[in-house]
Amino acid sequence: MTSRGEPDPAEAHCLADFERIAASVLPPEVWDYLAGGSGAETTLDANRRALDRVCVVPRVLRDVAGCSTATTLLGRPVRMPVAVAPVAYQRLAHPEGEAATARAAAAAGVPFLVSTLSSVPVEQLTALGGSVWFQLYWQRDPARARDLVRRAEDAGCEALVLTVDVPWMGRRLRDVRNRFALPEGVRAVHLAEGADAHERSAGRSAVAVHTGRAFSPSVTWSTLAELRRGTRLPLVLKGVLDPEDAVRAAAEGVDAVVVSNHGGRQLDGAPPGVEVLAEVVRGVPDGCEVLLDSGVRSGTDVLRALALGARGVLVGRPAVWGLAAAGAAGAARVLDLLAAELHDALGLSGCASVSEARDLRTLRLP
Ligand code: FNR
Ligand code: LAC
Repeated sequence: MTSRGEPDPAEAHCLADFERIAASVLPPEVWDYLAGGSGAETTLDANRRALDRVCVVPRVLRDVAGCSTATTLLGRPVRMPVAVAPVAYQRLAHPEGEAATARAAAAAGVPFLVSTLSSVPVEQLTALGGSVWFQLYWQRDPARARDLVRRAEDAGCEALVLTVDVPWMGRRLRDVRNRFALPEGVRAVHLAEGADAHERSAGRSAVAVHTGRAFSPSVTWSTLAELRRGTRLPLVLKGVLDPEDAVRAAAEGVDAVVVSNHGGRQLDGAPPGVEVLAEVVRGVPDGCEVLLDSGVRSGTDVLRALALGARGVLVGRPAVWGLAAAGAAGAARVLDLLAAELHDALGLSGCASVSEARDLRTLRLP
């Protein structure tokens, strides 16, 4: 705490410290939208438990003096195998919203994934100079989806990420109970209309109503094939859990899959990605990278994902905790902490590099 009783981000020494700060500074209904999951939040809770059960067996007597977290994602250098996950409407958390988080990602040398539901236009984010990937929600009007793809390309995005686990939003009971709606001044700037996202009413989340009207529930493999034909950008499929889907996606020419249950926000009862990760990695060809998200909260978690064969991870909520706590500086500190923790975890497990971590043995605690 500072002398005025406010939380002090400089006193945050792990991502969970930022979670507490964010919970204390955000309006309760914004906190609930950010923190919540769907249904009984079974999957949300399972994400943490599953990661905690993964033990990584360290190696010894290997020189780790030059230990580095640097690697590549989609063939481009990154300072650590982490990217900032697409998270909608970040101006809910801080007036600068995505602009601050993207600046932090650029400073940390990791990609920033901008959501279709961004509250800051993609052009402003790519202008910051970092690596920006565009996350696409296919639209009911396919012409609009195609326009978003062109817009992302023209803005200089380095990859397209098609999210496929949201035919519509999961039932987020916190949002339903709060009658959650976007405040005036925060909107999905890439989408044309959106008055309904601001209309509070009993028994529903206005954001779920709005996205339900905009997003197509009819996305299929032929949509993916169209997208693959229609862009030269690397293509990432986000929201895969069944290894068969991952294998099919690779055959359709995607450059990466994100093994994800959307942070426990879509199908409640879906498994944590770590439970299927190794099988996905075994199934897809080498040319298709496998990323993991949902519940990653530390460098230890990144090491766990690497040891299970992932190329890297996405972090969602923690970046926004940092943003809420202290804008770009807070998000940057979250990413710096993660890099420092990963450096520790690599060295302490006897790995001088990220690629060595992929050969570590893992065990499951009961
Ligand atoms: C998300 N996520 C998400 N995913 C996506 O593809 N497009 C989006 O617009 C959003 N929006 C969004 C908003 C909020 C508030 C959250 C918490 C999440 C999912 C996100 O990209 C990622 O899959 C999860 O957040 C990962 O889990 P953790 O790291 O938050 O546990
Ligand atoms: C969410 C949607 C917008 O998880 O992806 O809130």
